[in-house]
Amino acid sequence: MEIKKIAVLGAGDMGHGIAEVSAMAGYEVWMRDIKQEFVDKGMERIKQSLVKLQEKGKIESAEKVLEKIHPTLDLAEAVKDADLIIEAIPEVFELKTKVFAECDKLAKPECIFASNTSTMKITDLAKATKREDKFIGLHFFNPVVVMRLVEVIKGEKTNDEVVKICVDYVKKIGKVPVVVRKDVPGFIVNRIQAPSGALLMAIIDKGIAKPEEVDAVMRKMGLPMGPFELMDFTGIDIFYHASKYYGRTLSPDYEPPKILEEMIKANKLGKKTGKGWYDWSAGRPQIDLEKATDKISPLDFSIVEINEAVRLVEMGVAEPQDIDTAIKLGLNRPFGPFELASSLEEDQILNRLNELASQFGKKIFEPAETIKAKKLKKLLEKKEEKPSEEFQTIKIEKLGDGITKLILNRPDRLNTISVQLLDELDKAISMLWKDNETRVIIITGAGRAFSAGADLGATITHPFDFVEHNRKGERIFRRLGEIPKPVIAAINGYALGGGFEIAMNCDLRLAKKSAILGLPEVGLGIIPGWSGTQRLAKLVGISRAMQLALTGERITGEEAERWGIVNKAFDDDKFEEEVLKYAKNIVERCAPISMALIKRLINKGGEVPMDVGMEWECTACGVVFATEDMREGFSAFFRKEKPKFKGR
Ligand SMILES: NC(=O)c1ccc[n+]([C@@H]2O[C@H](COP(=O)([O-])OP(=O)(O)OC[C@H]3O[C@@H](n4cnc5c(N)ncnc54)[C@H](O)[C@@H]3O)[C@@H](O)[C@H]2O)c1
Repeated sequence: MEIKKIAVLGAGDMGHGIAEVSAMAGYEVWMRDIKQEFVDKGMERIKQSLVKLQEKGKIESAEKVLEKIHPTLDLAEAVKDADLIIEAIPEVFELKTKVFAECDKLAKPECIFASNTSTMKITDLAKATKREDKFIGLHFFNPVVVMRLVEVIKGEKTNDEVVKICVDYVKKIGKVPVVVRKDVPGFIVNRIQAPSGALLMAIIDKGIAKPEEVDAVMRKMGLPMGPFELMDFTGIDIFYHASKYYGRTLSPDYEPPKILEEMIKANKLGKKTGKGWYDWSAGRPQIDLEKATDKISPLDFSIVEINEAVRLVEMGVAEPQDIDTAIKLGLNRPFGPFELASSLEEDQILNRLNELASQFGKKIFEPAETIKAKKLKKLLEKKEEKPSEEFQTIKIEKLGDGITKLILNRPDRLNTISVQLLDELDKAISMLWKDNETRVIIITGAGRAFSAGADLGATITHPFDFVEHNRKGERIFRRLGEIPKPVIAAINGYALGGGFEIAMNCDLRLAKKSAILGLPEVGLGIIPGWSGTQRLAKLVGISRAMQLALTGERITGEEAERWGIVNKAFDDDKFEEEVLKYAKNIVERCAPISMALIKRLINKGGEVPMDVGMEWECTACGVVFATEDMREGFSAFFRKEKPKFKGR
């Protein structure tokens, strides 16, 4: 079945966002709420958001998207002929089941019903209808327009075809679907956070540390907000109800402590009531970082989350790579629990879980079976063998005429290079290596940076791991010089550290005049470790390389052109157009096999005595002599026409 019309129930925080992203993807959307003022407010929020997206050039026309959204108070009108109903009304079981039962009578039989519930069992909600096989969970994250994850939850009776249709819908609205194969409390993202929440409560309940002491530790680690301040910000009641829910459905260990009960009774709900763990009456609380305590270890929170993630795999809820994806995208974290686990020792995790379980008397901290049996590393190896299908940190766009754009795609983090981005870049190079449609590759960055360097959030705990991390990056970047087609770095903004090193490993560099290039590592007490100390000197000579790497000095794209680092610098407003023209010119004029051999001879020739390089060159001459393209090149020259090279 093809989804054309979508009914979104509720125009609140989530509903208006779901309606907006669905309309942006081209669906006809009916958005229903119970009062005109709610519908109007939802439409106003959508309008404001669309105008902003239009200003940023992310959509062509806000007006055209708005035309696709039909606000209504009439449930029958909203769901009539709908192919998919997405419910985003308040989190009250009786209300949701009542509305679904009504929809069941009004909607066509093949219509799929989805709930955006954060906590309820999809299977239980489905029972309110006679279409349990067509009932599913679509759990969006707030704010919907920004957050890329959608958990797709399979109820006990949900049909596989319905899961597939919903996965396709999620992809079509530009989000990343993670299928939750079992309908468990908290699904993936909220469930994995549940034990670290319980640990926070236990620390307070036992008087081990005060909220400000814990927050100071986390803030010192670079988090924008500590967990208690965050709890105040989102609402103590939300955390309280979630704890109650997990206490009821998972284990009494999750039951909120007395102090939380008292706060609820005293209406100390955090920012919204002016008081929670902190006093908010004078604005955001000032956390004294000096109060950071060594009575807690931040790693403990990660360890209990790893434990819960392992449990979800044991229960068959999801595969490790999907759990990592969900946590990274759902919580904006640089690492998922399994990626984190791979940098820890198996015994360290096991021992610490045993200690926490006995210190706090909570079974939920006891090690999961896999960890107890010391099979976690095996599980992680299995994950490596089954990489996720989707790219999340890079994007590949085929521009036609043999030109493919590879976009470093973490714009909100200036395209910094995470472990995941490294892995995906490696995979993308392999894909494009074999791709006959691609003749020229343009690497560029999404947003205002090319790449601002390595993601410094990387969890590397041992010096030798850092050796391997650097080796891995250097090896992957090196493949840009080995892939048998020209690679152009289109430096559209900051190219610092690892970002600059990616550009150095490309065959050609084009830059915006205003771009900023540099190697800031020396100021951080590290060194340019992804080929920077080696490649820059080859590219531009020892003197200039010393100037950049030793001092951390930054230069503009215009200066880089003068220095010979960048082949051409263009005015900012013409940059994209000029890069495309440059790439097109190469595709039209240059023979693919010649280019593949030339780049290898130049790159590898510099590493061997000239005599050896010359011999390689002679052999390569023999190779091109046998190609159809050589005959076409000469023939076109005499015909006075553009050659039509085939790469044969
Ligand atoms: N806010 C979040 O961060 C978040 C994240 C994920 C999931 N959720 C879930 O999404 C759902 C909605 O949450 P929200 O934050 O958007 O709530 P909200 O209070 O902002 O919006 C709910 C809207 O539903 C409307 N409504 C009530 N009864 C209705 C009915 N019968 N038909 C149509 N509309 C009706 C309300 O008037 C309101 O405008 C909840 O189940 C919540 O648990 C929320």
